[in-house]
Amino acid sequence: MHIRPATEADADRILELHVRAIREICSRDYTPEQIQAWAGPKLAAHYLEPIRGQRLVVAEHAGRVVGMGDYHVTANEICAVYVDPDFGRQGIGRALFQAVAGALKARGFKDAVLDASLNSVGFYQAMGCRIVEQRMHPFRPGGSIPCVRMTIEL
Ligand SMILES: CC(C)(COP(=O)(O)OP(=O)(O)OC[C@H]1O[C@@H](n2cnc3c(N)ncnc32)[C@H](O)[C@@H]1OP(=O)(O)O)[C@@H](O)C(=O)NCCC(=O)NCCS
Repeated sequence: MHIRPATEADADRILELHVRAIREICSRDYTPEQIQAWAGPKLAAHYLEPIRGQRLVVAEHAGRVVGMGDYHVTANEICAVYVDPDFGRQGIGRALFQAVAGALKARGFKDAVLDASLNSVGFYQAMGCRIVEQRMHPFRPGGSIPCVRMTIEL
């Protein structure tokens, strides 16, 4: 498994694993309506901007994209770490997290923030993040879900 910058050719597969991870992993902690507000509006085209901005990385295993992570370049925020449910607990999330945290550190940030979904708090704690507060995470098309604001020193 290795981490590499995503290309535009990866967009369809990123969408597929992102939606599967939400529907299969996150559905344990959220209602069907919340999952639909989260996963339903996603389109492959949404990944093109972060891909062109070189802030989206993917994990590739045996020629297949099995996870993705991205971050803001204008703020010290980790936006996403998602792993294909068929490849969970193999260290892929950790590798993605280290890649995006390392990229923010290389840009000069001393710390980073993120909104952790309820199911991912244990993962982010294992990555060294600490809980700041409970809050609602808004979706751009509308709706919001409860999440946990977390922070990490880079
Ligand atoms: C959260 C997620 C990214 C973790 O990815 P992963 O590849 O399974 O995680 P890793 O194998 O790298 O785990 C690294 C460590 O994190 C911790 N960890 C991982 N998943 C955990 C969980 N569900 N609960 C508690 N701790 C967890 C463990 O300490 C683990 O080490 P170990 O396996 O040696 O015990 C993945 O489950 C996922 O995609 N979830 C759905 C999407 C999501 O909620 N993303 C975050 C949105 S903010």
